[in-house]
Amino acid sequence: MAGKFQRILYGGDYNPNQWPEEVWKEDMRMFRKAGINSATINVFSWAKLQPSEETYYFDELDKIVDMLSAEEDDIVMATSTGALPAWMVKRYPEVARTDYEGRHHKFGQRHNACPNSQVYRKFMVSLTAKLAERYAHNPHITCWHINNEYGGECYCENCEKAFRVWLKKKYKTIEAVNKAWNTEFWGHTFYDFDEIVLPNVLGDGIGTEDTAFAGLSIDYKRFNSDSLLENYCMERDAIKAVNPDALVTTNLMGTYKGLDYFKWAKEMDIVSWDNYPALDTHWSFTAMTHDLMRGLKKEPFMLMEQTPSQQNWQKYNSLKRPGQMRAQSYQTLAHGADTIQFFQLRRSVGGCEKFHGAVIAHAGTENTRVFREVSQLGEELARLGRHILGTENRAEVAMIFDWDNYWGLEYTSGPSEDLKYVDQIHQYYRYFYEHNIPVDMVSAEDTFAGYKVVAAPVLYMVKEGMKEALTAFVKQGGILILTYMSGIVDQSDNVYLGGYPGPLRELAGVWVEEIDALFPDQKNQMIFADGREAECGLVCDIMHLEGAEALAVYGSDFYKDSPVVTRNAYGEGSTYYIGSDPSEEGIEMILDKVREEAGISGASGEKARLEIVSRWNGEQEYGFLMNFTDQVLPVPERFAGKEDLLTEKAVESGETMKKYDVKIVKM
Ligand code: GLA
Ligand code: ZN
Repeated sequence: MAGKFQRILYGGDYNPNQWPEEVWKEDMRMFRKAGINSATINVFSWAKLQPSEETYYFDELDKIVDMLSAEEDDIVMATSTGALPAWMVKRYPEVARTDYEGRHHKFGQRHNACPNSQVYRKFMVSLTAKLAERYAHNPHITCWHINNEYGGECYCENCEKAFRVWLKKKYKTIEAVNKAWNTEFWGHTFYDFDEIVLPNVLGDGIGTEDTAFAGLSIDYKRFNSDSLLENYCMERDAIKAVNPDALVTTNLMGTYKGLDYFKWAKEMDIVSWDNYPALDTHWSFTAMTHDLMRGLKKEPFMLMEQTPSQQNWQKYNSLKRPGQMRAQSYQTLAHGADTIQFFQLRRSVGGCEKFHGAVIAHAGTENTRVFREVSQLGEELARLGRHILGTENRAEVAMIFDWDNYWGLEYTSGPSEDLKYVDQIHQYYRYFYEHNIPVDMVSAEDTFAGYKVVAAPVLYMVKEGMKEALTAFVKQGGILILTYMSGIVDQSDNVYLGGYPGPLRELAGVWVEEIDALFPDQKNQMIFADGREAECGLVCDIMHLEGAEALAVYGSDFYKDSPVVTRNAYGEGSTYYIGSDPSEEGIEMILDKVREEAGISGASGEKARLEIVSRWNGEQEYGFLMNFTDQVLPVPERFAGKEDLLTEKAVESGETMKKYDVKIVKM
């Protein structure tokens, strides 16, 4: 149960190659002072490590590694392959990407390599192999961090050829491709794999978000995710060839659309991710993203990056308010992190991130608010590690998050362009968050065993096996929550004929005959059996009961009095079907009923205002209490008398917490 680390890693991106060596010593002094015990190095140093095709240079990196090793720091060693060196792009232009508009790029920026360029792959693997040979047995290197924030797309000819190979492997024959993409539509029939082109704006792409053939575009997304994943695996294997026990990760980006992170996580030893909420990001959104990152492997994760204070790349880069960074860090730990790492440890002198928050400011002194807050947290984390590391989060509620559905729902043309996958998931997650009911974010391939409730909002695409898994779950007593825009298409975006929600129709006990789309200011109402009413909109399913009971009916329009929320008893369990997008109150009314049926009470029993989350080591539970509201809130009485690990004192009866206060209570 100790997890993957000996202590909570506390540190972050450290780029001392950007400043003179005299400063390094001062960095070490300040890190000790702040309780920093870890540094992520070598993230963007390819140009330094390989100044030309024939030469490698490791002296400077050796020095940095030696210095951190002497300090007993945990080193997170990156591989530097996230930004191409200039000589490589000049000599081998194919290593650069071709964008969505079909423009082949010159040298510039980062995260810029064509994943299917054989030249890039060759150079990337040899650099990583050299790094591994040199450093993979250094006991101070706790973790390997490959590339950086994989993402983006390439539409070059190499990728096009690789896509055809990928398709051949998946579909075998061109007839199967034609069938999958329904190419009879608009006479797009392919006679040969060679005729298939990538779906950018020169092909079937419409604008930057839409497509004439969702089946094609979804397959391209899958292919692109696989291509980048292949890059990751090649580097990982180069490291493992030298040290099979090396712990290998790459930093993910939460709900980032481009990559199927459930597939990626299978290749990673530990998930790590970068958390950059804005001042107005709802805390429940951040909580959900942590749960998603934990859910990828159902294991504790690394918080690879957050800013100690502000960002530079948002529109308006607010400072974190006093106490906010600390509270955000504890929320991260509460949801399953075993590390707290920053971007960045020292502010750079130039380049577009010179205004990005850092532990050490341009002033270069420890006498700053940010440094003091970082130091306080460092001191606390050093004490908490032995309790928290490797402990688990337990949940009775699961929510399905699925990248194929993300792509499918947002590519599909109609019924409303306002249907956004992540927002849809979040609005249901938020109910559980506000009631302090823990949630596991799970993949569409999960078995759902052990959960009381599975929520699957906008389960637009039902892939092979899902109908069976969900049916078994409900039959055995589970409660399933489904909504509008569910059960519509198969893995290729072709509609299940015979009536919506297709394969889920029997489970839901309803038939959806038509789907209306409402303008943003146009509303309908859900009228519940007890007379209560809530607003709804966006889309309205017009449906018929086929065994389900109506919990609410529409309040207006030509489908007034027809069912909008239903419940179908099925086997030992039941399925709720929500036919229109409810207001927050509407979600509350429906999910209150689900919660009652499931017998789930949540940490506080009522709509809570403190966020309360537990981690558990098999014997001992630790309750994280956090106040993210503007009000002073009472600590629930059941915590009185229990030890707070932060103050090392018992919580007193009648205690209150103000904004950003945190307690970690030994239950
Ligand atoms: C990302 C990158 C970092 C840095 C930060 C700035 O997370 O991984 O290199 O650019 O953003 O917020
Ligand atoms: Zn390419």
